[in-house]
Amino acid sequence: MTGHRTVHVALGTRSYDVLIGHGLIADAGRHVREHLPGARVAIVTDENVARQHGAALAASLQSAGLLLGEPIVVTPGEASKGFATLETVSRRLLQTGLERRDAVVALGGGVIGDLAAFAASIVRRGVRMVQVPTSLLAQVDSSVGGKTGINTPEGKNLIGTFHQPSLVLADTGALETLPRRQMRAGYAEVAKAGLLGDAAFFARLERSVDGILSGGDANARTDAIETCVVMKAGIVARDEHETGERALLNLGHTFGHALEAATGFSDRLLHGEAVAIGLVLAFGFSEAAGLCPLGTQERLIRHLKAAGLPTHIKDIPGGEVFNPDTLTALMHQDKKTVGGKPTLILVRGIGQAYVSREQTWEQIRDFLAGECG
Ligand code: GLY
Repeated sequence: MTGHRTVHVALGTRSYDVLIGHGLIADAGRHVREHLPGARVAIVTDENVARQHGAALAASLQSAGLLLGEPIVVTPGEASKGFATLETVSRRLLQTGLERRDAVVALGGGVIGDLAAFAASIVRRGVRMVQVPTSLLAQVDSSVGGKTGINTPEGKNLIGTFHQPSLVLADTGALETLPRRQMRAGYAEVAKAGLLGDAAFFARLERSVDGILSGGDANARTDAIETCVVMKAGIVARDEHETGERALLNLGHTFGHALEAATGFSDRLLHGEAVAIGLVLAFGFSEAAGLCPLGTQERLIRHLKAAGLPTHIKDIPGGEVFNPDTLTALMHQDKKTVGGKPTLILVRGIGQAYVSREQTWEQIRDFLAGECG
């Protein structure tokens, strides 16, 4: 038995629970049986996560009599989020004997969650999905809300579906073995939640960042995860398909996705690191346009530095000078672009993000020229 907190995502017939707590992986069989009666499951994971948590998850599902076949294990890293691995995973899922009433279990970080959920949404025209996020980033953001996707050279997550999970098991114990760099990268999405809509949460983060990252303050860590999930659950319940408010969750991502594409979706720049730089750019752009008080970006930079995150394009390793025209062209592919015009998530201050369609590509290009310089 584990003690856990439950956050409900209210989406009518597609509603589901997010369970947050220590030891959920070892108890997964019980939770899956309770939340998805009648489903058997196939696991998708990556080599690193399989080594850490694969045996515990498989044992729990096996002893509940739910496990189909051997876990499907892919290469770790963003490069697996493409058509080639999607094909392999989809075909392997069919080979396990997975039927329409069964479910895919994604055990891993954001890459595995997005990839496995995409496969689940198309295999046999869609089977159910259980997210078992093992990274901070996946626990606070990508495992909740039903976005699935893969990358192509044209950009990040431009091919994908909406396919809500039926259950999310966020085992905080998994964070104890998460590499420091991955933990810091995930923290960018935690900070984003405060920055976009909860200034008091951001102020709490400023006081507790060290304990959250080190795990020295387990309560602050679990509270931070729960706060992010509660915020996201509310936004997703109100705007599942991102026709309005959900775009706010993209704060920092419009610039960040362009940086990820420009660095070839490689380990040179993790998604969360790109988001950290993207957040600073969004605040810098807002400040330069006179939309938010001077000094706000400085406060953000101080916090992200305290979390050990990059805060400037020049912090991206490799010594490359990025071309503002290339970055702007990559931003054209953003899914929020309407009628060829940019949509940016900008800020009036900490916790006050809004969707702006007032800017031009020329303004964005000129701003980036100053940042790339
Ligand atoms: N990660 C942003 C969203 O789920 O909408």
